[in-house]
Amino acid sequence: MKLNHIYQGHALDVLRTFPDECVDTIITSCPYWGLRDYGDETRVKWSDAWYGQLGLEPTLELYLRHLLQITQELKRVLKKTGVLFWNHGDSYGGSGGSGGDYNAGGLREGQTKVGKSGAGIQPKCLALQNYRLILRMIDDQGWILRNDIKWVKPNHMPSSVKDRFANGYEPVFMLVKNKKYWFDLDAVREPHKLASLERLQRGISDHHKYSAGAPGQTLHSGINRPRLNKRKWSRVPGQDKQNIEKHSGYFRDNKCLVDFEKGKNPGDVWEIATQPFSAAHFATFPEKLVAPMIKCACPEWICKKCGKARVRITKKTKRDEPYTYQKVGIPGESNQRGKRERCGQYQAETIGWTDCKCSAGWKQGICLDPFMGSGTVAKVTRLIHRRYVAIEISKKYIKIKDRRLAQGIFDF
Ligand SMILES: C[S@@+](CC[C@H](N)C(=O)[O-])C[C@H]1O[C@@H](n2cnc3c(N)ncnc32)[C@H](O)[C@@H]1O
Repeated sequence: MKLNHIYQGHALDVLRTFPDECVDTIITSCPYWGLRDYGDETRVKWSDAWYGQLGLEPTLELYLRHLLQITQELKRVLKKTGVLFWNHGDSYGGSGGSGGDYNAGGLREGQTKVGKSGAGIQPKCLALQNYRLILRMIDDQGWILRNDIKWVKPNHMPSSVKDRFANGYEPVFMLVKNKKYWFDLDAVREPHKLASLERLQRGISDHHKYSAGAPGQTLHSGINRPRLNKRKWSRVPGQDKQNIEKHSGYFRDNKCLVDFEKGKNPGDVWEIATQPFSAAHFATFPEKLVAPMIKCACPEWICKKCGKARVRITKKTKRDEPYTYQKVGIPGESNQRGKRERCGQYQAETIGWTDCKCSAGWKQGICLDPFMGSGTVAKVTRLIHRRYVAIEISKKYIKIKDRRLAQGIFDF
């Protein structure tokens, strides 16, 4: 398998030439069923004798079967410690067209979409193509679904429909092969919001920074924050430690359950605007969507000998100036004014990375995109100092990547 290389061809054929367990991360967006025509050069012959474009199958079932052949190969090439991010939107019954021929005289373009067992997807009904696929990946192929990330698009396409809401998000499914996998959440944590810090501190006593209240101690109904403002907090009758623990959600047996000092877990709702891209390719990923996936799921250092990826080591340190307000502008956000983040009392610092002691040197992790399109995953992978391998069937789209290179936008 060649690295930092784009293979031109049918994803299934190319994947079959790759060795087992050779990539650390897969980030991709497949052609959706019944939505777009990526051009005649993307038509391929499938093992069931259907000849046509992935996504333009006459039935949803046929489309799912084709994709499942590909996801089976993806599972084979993904390392045991690997992670797959699969972005997959949906389409409605009765919209768009289908294409391709099922042998001579077979089903042709423009025919009504049909679901499993030949029953029609009701006009106007969401096909749920993505969730149907993911269910089969879990049930038939043994994938473990860890997250159903909602990629919310604040600048989503305006819609002419008058009898439903416009579609403003797409799911990105995070799947793994094993219960244990490499994942660096600390690489993508965010600063806490003021409200979260307040919630955390509900139950903080003067004696114990994470205590939900020592026996006999006066408990407060809210945050114990005389240092923050002058407001007095009164005791709520009947409130006890368990009650506070239950409501704060952060404590059990006086222990803080979250690594609060490390920053906020970004959660599974990601608001990221689609990125305008002038070249003729639809459906390009925004770089901001891809970057956190690479950072948290594709290791930067893997031992050249034993193949173990290094794991971050952090240390908790006390801040010099706890309990202060800071004005923090969020770059790129319009509402910079008035954005306030409060520093917590503790912070976490990365003090190093685990070492397998092989002393054989390190290599960067490998990220695969089997439906590369204009090459966003490949580009961001290089920018973040990992290696990529990409597959794209359309020569036209591979040329877009070359044009970006000529304009100096790409660094590979
Ligand atoms: C949704 S787009 C991917 C967009 C990409 N994430 C980006 O940022 O530009 C899907 C891509 O899959 C390609 N494609 C379609 N059928 C394919 C196949 N059988 N093998 C490989 N690529 C294929 C299409 O040409 C298209 O560029």
